[in-house]
Amino acid sequence: PPHAMTVTVTGAAGQIGYALLFRIASGAMLGPDTRIRLKLLEIPAAVRAAEGTALELADCAFPLLDSVDVTDSAAAAFDGAHVALLVGARPRTAGMERADLLAANGGIFGPQGRAINDHAADSVRILVVGNPANTNALIAAAHAPDVPSDRFTAMTRLDHNRALAQLAIKLGCRTEEIEGVTVWGNHSASQYPDLTHATAGGQPVPSLVDEEWIEGDFIPRVAKRGAEVIEVRGSSSAASAASAAIDHVRDWVLGTPDRWTSAGVVSDGSYGVPEGLVSSFPVRSSGGAWEIVQGLEVPPFSRERIDTSVAELEAERDAVRELGLLG
Ligand code: NAI
Repeated sequence: PPHAMTVTVTGAAGQIGYALLFRIASGAMLGPDTRIRLKLLEIPAAVRAAEGTALELADCAFPLLDSVDVTDSAAAAFDGAHVALLVGARPRTAGMERADLLAANGGIFGPQGRAINDHAADSVRILVVGNPANTNALIAAAHAPDVPSDRFTAMTRLDHNRALAQLAIKLGCRTEEIEGVTVWGNHSASQYPDLTHATAGGQPVPSLVDEEWIEGDFIPRVAKRGAEVIEVRGSSSAASAASAAIDHVRDWVLGTPDRWTSAGVVSDGSYGVPEGLVSSFPVRSSGGAWEIVQGLEVPPFSRERIDTSVAELEAERDAVRELGLLG
């Protein structure tokens, strides 16, 4: 294949990294016509583990994989990056206050945003996976004044895919038959998975399921799925998160099929979401840019839930602004 892209993955030695790197290198993310140069960023203590993953990447003999570099330098990791997957983050540990968590992540995503600004390719596209993903994306964007802010996105595709899966199970159909599902707001328990405009096999979903199921089962199941996976698996979602990251970047770079999907993007004020917040919306991609799907009716049931999640995003933004993390 003629052209190569540089893909930077942070937190490469973590469990999402391990599920993600092999799929990127196989061509699942950027298609069969793009060779891949991987750059893996880790903290010094985990560089050796990332080097171990690099050994295994070599052992796969992927035809599309040109090179793998491992580093603990953000400047080196983001040098020439076309796609940056920001997975590494500071997890919340027992007894940690929310402000401490936001501050710790500000200490990661501010400098990484700056390094992207100074070293990445002009066309760089950034997906933030590490939590709190929406607000980490906001922090990174604030430190990259030369990068258009619409290049910074946060991952809500896992929530979107979970919604498709739950609905398909309920209806006994394939996820492929479902269109028009949206996840709104924050990647947190306040998110709103919305079936108002969904169809399955061309039939409106609200005519196929009752409101009690949507309110009492579907919405909480999707919003709390991460906790369910932790309880059953004994550790947090990893392969499904990696798969969602692949979906997000593939659709962004190569374009979405007819149906829309969900992604955390910088709000332009659409649907009453304050401009500048990184919030999940219904989106389509064409020409390498996400566009927010316009003109959807928002009934009161949806309005209330969108507003609740957006209020949480505003509170997170205000907290990091107070900590001086927005520059
Ligand atoms: P993990 O703890 O297994 O791996 C995280 C890795 O990041 C570690 O290897 C750590 O050394 C590295 N890291 C920490 N600080 C770093 C820095 N400054 N630069 C580079 N690397 C750094 O965690 P896991 O399971 O891979 O999850 C990663 C993140 O993804 C977490 O924040 C998690 O909450 C989030 N997540 C987000 C989802 C979403 O839907 N948006 C879904 C699932 C997880």
